[in-house]
Amino acid sequence: MSTDIDILYRPGFHFTPVKNWMNDPNGLVFHRGEYHLFYQHNPFGTKWGHMSWGHAVSTDLLNWQHLDIAIPEDTDGAIFSGSAVSIGDEIVAIYTRHTETNQTQCIATSKDNGRTFTKFESNPVLDLGMADFRDPKVFRYQDRWVMAVVKPHEHVCVFYKSIDLIKWEFLSEFGPTAAIGGVWECPDLFPLTCEGEELWVLLISLNPGAIKNGTGTQYFVGDFDGVTFTPRYSTEEPRWLDHGRDNYAGATFNNSPDGRRIFIGWMANWQDLGAHPATSWTNAMTIPRELGLTKIGEEIVLTQQPLCSPTYELVIDATKKYRSGLTGFVELGYDPETQQIFVDNYTADVKPVNNQIHLKVLIDQSSVELYTSDGVSWITMAVFPQAGVTRALSDFG
Ligand code: FRU
Repeated sequence: MSTDIDILYRPGFHFTPVKNWMNDPNGLVFHRGEYHLFYQHNPFGTKWGHMSWGHAVSTDLLNWQHLDIAIPEDTDGAIFSGSAVSIGDEIVAIYTRHTETNQTQCIATSKDNGRTFTKFESNPVLDLGMADFRDPKVFRYQDRWVMAVVKPHEHVCVFYKSIDLIKWEFLSEFGPTAAIGGVWECPDLFPLTCEGEELWVLLISLNPGAIKNGTGTQYFVGDFDGVTFTPRYSTEEPRWLDHGRDNYAGATFNNSPDGRRIFIGWMANWQDLGAHPATSWTNAMTIPRELGLTKIGEEIVLTQQPLCSPTYELVIDATKKYRSGLTGFVELGYDPETQQIFVDNYTADVKPVNNQIHLKVLIDQSSVELYTSDGVSWITMAVFPQAGVTRALSDFG
């Protein structure tokens, strides 16, 4: 049954579970005409627990069909984050099995387009005897599978290779470096081209120790030769994928058509979960975004363009100050003194061109995603404004 706050805060075009708790996107894969979104899910309540893989499919990444739990928690343990690959008629999920004392990497196979999975009888396929060792991202590299997986407290991403997804061989390690003020989680490694050149991007989520000591995702741009990831730039200073509060544990789709690199993040922050109202579901995903790389001066930076059209477009005079809002509103704007855009107290640097800033914003009941039209700077925020708030945009400027 929908309550008033369900109606007030349920997003119109962002993914939410029908009910109960959701965190990380898992197993993002395009398989036989469908995009699969599995996700960390508690089937029994609106708080974290009983981790299982929830499941939805879509052909356009905006309209989702909700399906039954794909991989439930069982007596072997909880089903933590991981990835999925498409092999002929099968989807193989590679996930972390979590118990109080041990995290190991396991696989499960689906022969019915992800609707049901059978766990491999000789799980786990990778066990270092560690309490924390998780979030395998597996992808195809030439004639082999490569896995990126983290040792969270050591701030290390480990790479393995396999021919059959069962026997894994150590390749190399990356880290510790950049931001290490919390645990490293949910790695992803993938190629993107920039002006005709192939580079590799490594995503690492961090909890806490990101912006305002919350959770967030840092990225590295470099090269991957099938064995080692080597950053192109100094990694002393972290680069954040998003400057807002609420974009964590994001990952990209395997096998997406036309080689597009599509990202979805969890639109929440582990350090600020209390802010979510008592709706019948907890948390949403970010809008799906196509990733790219662009050169700014000597730097190569990540870009994100949303895969949807209901954006508001704002061209503003970069010499003036813009601030929306009254008490109880979400504030967003641009400050010419700092040359920053902001949503509430989260900011991102922008460089005016010919004294203009081109911004776009996605507003959807309980979220604001403000970004520069070139896709370089994003501020993603889950927000829960009071009922009746309608003036945020009309006040803009
Ligand atoms: C990231 C994370 C992962 C873990 C999962 C558990 O948000 O902590 O490291 O696999 O959530 O739900």
